[in-house]
Amino acid sequence: MAGDGPPFVTSQLMTLTLVADAAAVAELVAGRLLEALRSRGNLGLATGRTMLPVYGALVRQLQQLPAQERQALLAGWSSFNLDEYVGLGAEDPRSFAAFMDAQLGVPLQLAPGALRIPDGRAPDPQLEALRYRQALQRAGGIGLQLLGLGGNGHVGFNEPPCGPEMPCRALALSPATREQNAGAFGGDPASVPDQAITLGTAEILGARSLLLVVTGGAKAEILRRTLQDPPCDQVPASWVQRHPQLEVVADPEAAAALS
Ligand code: GLP
Repeated sequence: MAGDGPPFVTSQLMTLTLVADAAAVAELVAGRLLEALRSRGNLGLATGRTMLPVYGALVRQLQQLPAQERQALLAGWSSFNLDEYVGLGAEDPRSFAAFMDAQLGVPLQLAPGALRIPDGRAPDPQLEALRYRQALQRAGGIGLQLLGLGGNGHVGFNEPPCGPEMPCRALALSPATREQNAGAFGGDPASVPDQAITLGTAEILGARSLLLVVTGGAKAEILRRTLQDPPCDQVPASWVQRHPQLEVVADPEAAAALS
């Protein structure tokens, strides 16, 4: 099966695993998440279309485990999501909280509070970002951090320009990101909230390992800039190059521009 072969090692710091298609990417990444659950660290989770098949595969893989093992893993579940829109709460189907409940919380019957995510309805978003950052620190930080890639090079919601040491914070979303994410808002970029709370590059780079998942030809050029140009503020995701434990999982379309 694709993904079983030796990974294609691009540097001392980075492993690039090329997988046949988005479905195989999902199975492989779900397997990584299952390993991370077994190791009992805090999971760092992401949203976005890329993660839909990943979470579907994770639910299936968990359901195939013996009941006792599954129950033990689910009882010990501890995760922190990257980001949330300011102004949207879990009761709004367009929120990332609702996305996580639908993809993982409900199918896995996770305990309330197991899927931690910034509160988009908090009256003071900067204070909420500080609270979330401190909650993550108290919990011991992130073990495996799952990451998607924004079309403009954002990671989490760290919009360009962004250096490698930015903390969890509330920030303005760029027009490009509001355009990219308009699908969940009736196709209207103006309906996408103009602010979000996101873990910063500081917390992301502080995770013990990073797993960047990229699929589809539309991301090929930004993935090349992320991995092969010198890291820079204009491509916030490019700071992942500095992490000593980075795995990138991509399908051939997303990897097409890599040399
Ligand atoms: C969103 C999220 C990111 C996500 C990215 C890619 O805006 N904040 O965490 O990785 O954009 O989304 P998609 O997978 O839908 O392309």
